Amino acid sequence: MSNPASPPAVGVLAERPPLAFPPGFLWGAATAAYQIEGAATAGGRTPSIWDTFSHTPGRVVAGHTGDVACDHYHRLDSDVALMAELGLRSYRFSVSWPRVQPGGTGPINQEGLDFYRRLVDQLLANGIEPWLTLYHWDLPQPLEDAGGWPARDTAARFADYAALVAGALGDRVRYWTTLNEPWCSAFLGYGSGAHAPGRSDPAAAVRAGHHLLLGHGLAVPALRAAAQSEVEIGVTLNLYPVTPATDSPGDADAARRIDGLANRFFLDPLLRGSYPADLMSDLRQVSDFGHVRAGDLATIAAPLDLVGINYYSRHVVAAPTAAAPPEPYWRTPSCWPGSEDVRFVARGMPVTDMDWEIDPSGLVETLQRVYEEYTDLPLYVTENGSAFVDAVVDGKVDDPDRVAYFEAHLRAAHQAIAAGVPLRGYFAWSLMDNFEWAWGYTKRFGMIHVDYRSQARTLKSSGRWYAETIRRNGLAA
Ligand code: NOJ
Repeated sequence: MSNPASPPAVGVLAERPPLAFPPGFLWGAATAAYQIEGAATAGGRTPSIWDTFSHTPGRVVAGHTGDVACDHYHRLDSDVALMAELGLRSYRFSVSWPRVQPGGTGPINQEGLDFYRRLVDQLLANGIEPWLTLYHWDLPQPLEDAGGWPARDTAARFADYAALVAGALGDRVRYWTTLNEPWCSAFLGYGSGAHAPGRSDPAAAVRAGHHLLLGHGLAVPALRAAAQSEVEIGVTLNLYPVTPATDSPGDADAARRIDGLANRFFLDPLLRGSYPADLMSDLRQVSDFGHVRAGDLATIAAPLDLVGINYYSRHVVAAPTAAAPPEPYWRTPSCWPGSEDVRFVARGMPVTDMDWEIDPSGLVETLQRVYEEYTDLPLYVTENGSAFVDAVVDGKVDDPDRVAYFEAHLRAAHQAIAAGVPLRGYFAWSLMDNFEWAWGYTKRFGMIHVDYRSQARTLKSSGRWYAETIRRNGLAA
């Protein structure tokens, strides 16, 4: 938690000296399977919860689905060529669980696996370090039908799947992320229902959060044992500084509560082996935590090699008032069980096309907090980026707002490094425009523009800028 909202700490923005990053800093870009691959029924792939959800009318803007997406499945070679053109040192992608293990149980689907093997081999051939995320939200539908993440068995299924993939690719992939943003899977998937599977049941969301953590904890040793070479394993959390709108005790308490749900629900079990007592007390009307069995927390706290942090913005919150206005989806009361009455406050700062305030100082705070309060493990920004409305004009896409966003956040990242945080790499979200979940194709985060009709790729000016940043291992004045 940070102090009452004051004007943003623009120290990171005000001066723009050239900045060099440490030698070997891992510059990358990230994507996720359901957001880019398409080929929803190719090669033995079966539906995930996102296929079901996106095909349910009213769930995704304009009825968009990931059926075709960026057709990356069929454009692997040319997409890797673009990564090489950008000079990426690393590429973070996710494996589609129902592509490699259709239905979520049983043996590996060789055809699905071959796609990822080709991807990894092409990356390695181009000197690009593969970074594999096992779970970026596409739970096989039959596992949801059997209870989904609120059911304990899903955790064991995830560990089996992790071992299968590690057995197949562990000889050539060094960096592994178990879960991407488990807060979203639990609280948007089962709390607000804004994400697949679209359930709205706060107690189920809390159980889902625990079983995601448990699945992670079971997967870590399974993965290590199955990989045939040395691997570095982490988890990726979406963390936010949570700032009280004023210094009133009510606002401070609102910030404590949201910080509990957004950050400490995950950080504490993973890195301290316990749930925060105040969080459990806040949730007492929702859950008695009876689903937590002896030994679970020790399992969840399995030793890691790194921690991944996705940073986009800050939450500013205030105590409840009698009549709170309706809020956008991540502020929907039902994704904050037990704290539904907290208000999310907009400070009137510049926002991205997602309506997220642009606040690079929050990245410094987040990195410092994880380092100072939780761990001295290497940290990686596994996602950071912005959606803006882009247009192709004369075959070019000029996106100065995205360049400014990247630059400001990289200056923030550098500030954290200078303050002693062991930040080892940074992944831009995203390599290319893609399926932005409940927003469908209406939000563009890419450094590469995708024309969804022709599948033409156009490198945006942000992509050129990022390539130059990687080349000089830092920022120009
Ligand atoms: C985080 C998620 O991991 C990613 O899938 C999503 O597209 C970006 N944030 C932007 O919302």
